[in-house]
Amino acid sequence: MFFWQPGRHIRKMTAVLEEIARGNLQQRINIYSKGALGRLAQVIDSSISALTAQINVLNREAVKGKAILTSMVEGVIAIDKDGRVLSLNPTAEKIFNIKKQDAEGRLFLEVIRNNDIFEIISRVLKSGEPLSNELNLILPVQKVFKINASAIFEDRAVAGCVLVIHDITQMRRLERVRSDFVANVSHELKTPLTSIKGFVETLLEGAIDDKENNREFLRVIQEHTNRLESLINDLLDLASLEERGVSLRAQEVNFKELADKILMNFEAQLEKKEVEARNELPGNLIVNADKDKIEQVFTNLIDNAVKFNRQKGSIKIYAQELPDNKIKVIVKDSGEGIPPKDISRIFERFYRVDKARSRAMGGTGLGLSIVKHIIESHGGSIEVESSEGLGSEFSFILPK
Ligand SMILES: Nc1ncnc2c1ncn2[C@@H]1O[C@H](COP(=O)(O)OP(=O)(O)OP(=O)(O)O)[C@@H](O)[C@H]1O
Ligand SMILES: [Mg+2]
Repeated sequence: MFFWQPGRHIRKMTAVLEEIARGNLQQRINIYSKGALGRLAQVIDSSISALTAQINVLNREAVKGKAILTSMVEGVIAIDKDGRVLSLNPTAEKIFNIKKQDAEGRLFLEVIRNNDIFEIISRVLKSGEPLSNELNLILPVQKVFKINASAIFEDRAVAGCVLVIHDITQMRRLERVRSDFVANVSHELKTPLTSIKGFVETLLEGAIDDKENNREFLRVIQEHTNRLESLINDLLDLASLEERGVSLRAQEVNFKELADKILMNFEAQLEKKEVEARNELPGNLIVNADKDKIEQVFTNLIDNAVKFNRQKGSIKIYAQELPDNKIKVIVKDSGEGIPPKDISRIFERFYRVDKARSRAMGGTGLGLSIVKHIIESHGGSIEVESSEGLGSEFSFILPK
């Protein structure tokens, strides 16, 4: 039985529309009568359904956008046309050490007191043209950022600006390391080469017949050739160690025997300097490691311990057992020590405390960087302790 009840229908429609206005989009009128009121109710119901679907799409887009902003490694800050912060992502919070809730709605310059960035924002807001710039910021350590700023448009007018901030400190540092490396290598290659060239020319110009000096000239040429050879070998070693996936040829290595063998190679230098070397490694210390590479570690550490020692000094090599089946090997000398300001840098390639002196002793500053690479490729670590004038202690830890 069908009753025409316009008053009741209108009340129901009003109630549903009020609910919709409150944001409850689940409500429907559900009147299926054939009259004009019934059709109106059906049109409203299907409009609400279409609207709900549209809102769901927008919500999904917003969630997606938020997820992208949250996971971005770049900092993102949106600013309105009056220079107020509209929003920022977690990376931006981290970069500038600020909180989203404290920043949003406030003037950019109150939140981030940086005139250089503000200048970029002002220019973009004024011109609508994108801008990109590299800035050094101290936050509190100095970092390099690439900042890309672009305008937000609404109805063809600039309504704000978005900053995308990329931390490029590490990239710039690597570029510097690489160019320093090339400059250093070129310099180190050129020095012996210039000498060799000079002496060869002198010989060819007649000195070859100078019975008194020609042997000495040849000896100098030989010395520089050896230097070139050892530099190139060091560079090749470093290159192969840096190549990822270099496999170690692990075997059981008796550290005491290995250190004894290396000390024998240094016999002449030790005698000349009257340095007493004691190998106190236990005879039963066996480590699973790449023997050739560990041989190089001992060679480079002992070479330094002899070179930078004093006349009548001493060297001691000993070990300490550590928990988790690890071993610490220490090479201790009574040499000149390393000034505190240099200590953090001596493992860098080509770093020498006294460049001229080290070079005069045949060093290029690659020895310790090779040692560090080898130890780290074995899953170990290396440290140094030193007091100026008293001596140094290089210790490396390896898993057995
Ligand atoms: N045992 C040590 N005592 C004092 N200074 C040291 C010692 N070992 C290293 N150093 C300092 O650290 C610098 C870097 O050492 P590294 O072994 O890398 O280079 P090098 O010995 O000068 O040259 P290379 O090893 O390439 O022949 C040295 O130039 C020296 O200034
Ligand atoms: Mg060395």
